[in-house]
Parts: sequence; structure tokens; C-alpha cells
Amino acid sequence: MPELNRRLEQITDSVIGHMTALCDALPGSINLAQGCPEHDPPKAILDALVKEAAGGPQHQYAVLCGSPNLRRCIADKYSPLIGKALDPEEEVVVTCGGTEAMMAIMMAICNEGDKVIIFSPFYECYGTDAFLNGAEPIYVPLVPPAYEFDPAVLEDAFKQGGKAIVVCNPNNPSGKVFTREELLLIEELAAKYDAFVITDEPYEHIVYAPYEHVRAASLPGAYERTITCNSLSKTFSITGWRIGFVIAPPKIAEAIKLAHVFLTVGTASPLQEAACAGFSLGQEYYDELVADYAANREIICGGLDEIGLTYTLPKGGFFVMVDITPFLEKPMFKGWSDLQFCEWLVDEIGVGATPGSCFFAEPVNNLIRLQFASNAATLHEAIERFKRLKAYL
Ligand SMILES: Cc1ncc(COP(=O)(O)O)c(C=O)c1O
Repeated sequence: MPELNRRLEQITDSVIGHMTALCDALPGSINLAQGCPEHDPPKAILDALVKEAAGGPQHQYAVLCGSPNLRRCIADKYSPLIGKALDPEEEVVVTCGGTEAMMAIMMAICNEGDKVIIFSPFYECYGTDAFLNGAEPIYVPLVPPAYEFDPAVLEDAFKQGGKAIVVCNPNNPSGKVFTREELLLIEELAAKYDAFVITDEPYEHIVYAPYEHVRAASLPGAYERTITCNSLSKTFSITGWRIGFVIAPPKIAEAIKLAHVFLTVGTASPLQEAACAGFSLGQEYYDELVADYAANREIICGGLDEIGLTYTLPKGGFFVMVDITPFLEKPMFKGWSDLQFCEWLVDEIGVGATPGSCFFAEPVNNLIRLQFASNAATLHEAIERFKRLKAYL
């Protein structure tokens, strides 16, 4: 057989996929490894989908860079939030989820040998997307438990030739919400070293008071170098619809459109039309969404408090990083990896978690990630099962 793409040999399979497969193989287990909202999507969107399904021109190819209606909705929503009148034709591209958006962005900006700065811990696809497009990741640690970065280390990464930086805000997996000051510094360094800022914001509406979401693209002078990568997956609880989008200045958006068109020829047309209905929802929808996730955070974190495990309280998103050091110090677990611990958790208590090491470039072995997007009953049951772990402490 002729040789396959050599770059793929260096990419390891998804650890989250592995943990999910273990949960799937064990009836009755609870998968807190993969974050998938158990909320129903807003009724307005589902009603609109029924109408779309009933027929009409939207069952054929969409306009390649996104339905004009959806791009108009996106431009109308984000113009005031970013503080710039966005042109839906020139500055918005609709993609197959945020996942494709990030790949299309990397395809649009990377040349062989380029370097892309990525904060560690990171969402799984950033380094892979950069690498598959010939670029080399430079990792800058967000140091647990506070997940802060050292400005000198960040500047050093730009000095090494970082052509772009990826900022996941709110951050998956750590729950960090970048402050205005941190984002100003990132934008200032990007301007100094002439780099792009790619900001991945699918959890923008899941930020817990008193913290607030600051859009990097809205900062003074930032728009021209900032590429916003986003998704409707979490905002409208429609992860299966695969609708993401990019907002970027026209020349950059043009390159992203080109990459997107050759990757997918466009996103599912009826779903794009139906998703427009979500943009008419008022502030009360977003308030309810974040209140629901805040209640879930309380169930999980309150449960961890009861058990006596330490964690970093997430400021945004629906993941929490839990410290498993107290277990790893016991003779029974001596020398175990976090992956072994997570595999054991599935067998022992029927709960799936993600080993933290898969999110870090540094050798971190004492953290596991739990998602709390499941419904309250599932999370309560997961905590009941975790309580059995006290016997091992
Ligand atoms: C940080 C982050 N970015 C992007 C995505 C991709 O989302 P989607 O492809 O469903 O839009 C996810 C999904 O979990 C995520 O956590």
C-alpha cells in the first residue's frame, strides 16, 4: 500500500473518545468525560426546523460561506458586542462547527515551518490543526491551580516567531475566563510581534458572576489582527447540528472562506436557516442558560467539597479540573498514570472522567476533568458514586 500521510502518525487518538468508548461498553455508566449538553435546544429553533423540513429551497446546497440570513443574524448580534459594524458578506463565514472553523483558520494562516502559540492546557484540536497545516505549536503554560500565565514566557513565545496565538476563552478544560488585562497584554504582544490572535469562544454565554466575558476582538485596535472562532453548539445546545462561524477582517475572512469551501462545500442548509430563530431570543434565554449551568456547577463542586477533593472553581464553561493527588499518594495507586486512574474509575464506580494529561504539553499527571453539562439527576448520581471513593482516601 502506498504510504499514508506521515503527519498523521504523530497524532494520537482522542483520549476523550477512548473514555467515552469505555463508558459506552459499560451499561449504566455515567460519562463525565465528554461534555455534551443534555438541555433541549430552544423551542423556537426546533419549530423553525420543522418548518424547514416541510420543504422549500433550503434542501439544496447553501451559499458556500453560509446562509445570508444566518450571516446577517451573526453580524447583527456581534456588531454591538465587538464594537464594529460587521459586514455579513465580507467578515462572517459559517462553518461545520467550531471544529471546522479552527481547521479552516489554520489552513488560511499557516505556512510550512510557521509557529503557533497555544496556551496549555488546551482544547484537543488546536495543536493538531496547526501541525496538520505544517506549523509547529509553541506551548505557554497556564499554571494550575489558578491557570495564570507568566507574561515573560508569553513574550518569549512571540520572540521565537509565534505567528498566531490561540486563546480559548472561557477555557476548556480549566474553566479560566481571561481578564481584560490579560487579553490587552496578549493583543499588545501580538501587535508588537505582528501576529494573529485566534480567539475560540464557544462558551461565551456560560460565564459565572462576578466574572464577565471580554471579546478579544472588541479591545482597542485589536480587530484587525483578531480572528474570532465560535459555535452555536453550546449556546443553543445543538452540538449535533454542526454550526460554527468565524468573524474576521475581510482579507482574512476571504482566505478562511476558501479553505472552508474546499473542506465542506458548506454547512447543512436547513439547519442554518432554522438556527436563525435562536438569534431572536432575548437576554432572559441567556440568563436562564447560565443559571442552569451555575446550578450544575454547584452540584458537582458541592459534591467534591463533601468528599474532600480539591478543584479549581470554573469561572466559565462546563468543566472542572479535579486534583487526584490524594489518591495517587496512596500505596494502591503508586506509580499510576491519570489515564489508569480514569480507566479504573469507570470499572470501580461507573463514572467516566478525562485524564488531565491529554490537555497539557507539560508532564501533568494529577488532574482529571469532569463535565457538568449533564442534567441534575445524572450529576447527583455521579456524585453519589464518587462518595464511594472516600474508602480509598
Ligand atoms: C473550546 C472548544 N472549542 C471548540 C469546540 C468545537 O465545538 P463544535 O465543533 O461543536 O462547534 C469545542 C467543543 O467541545 C470546545 O470545547
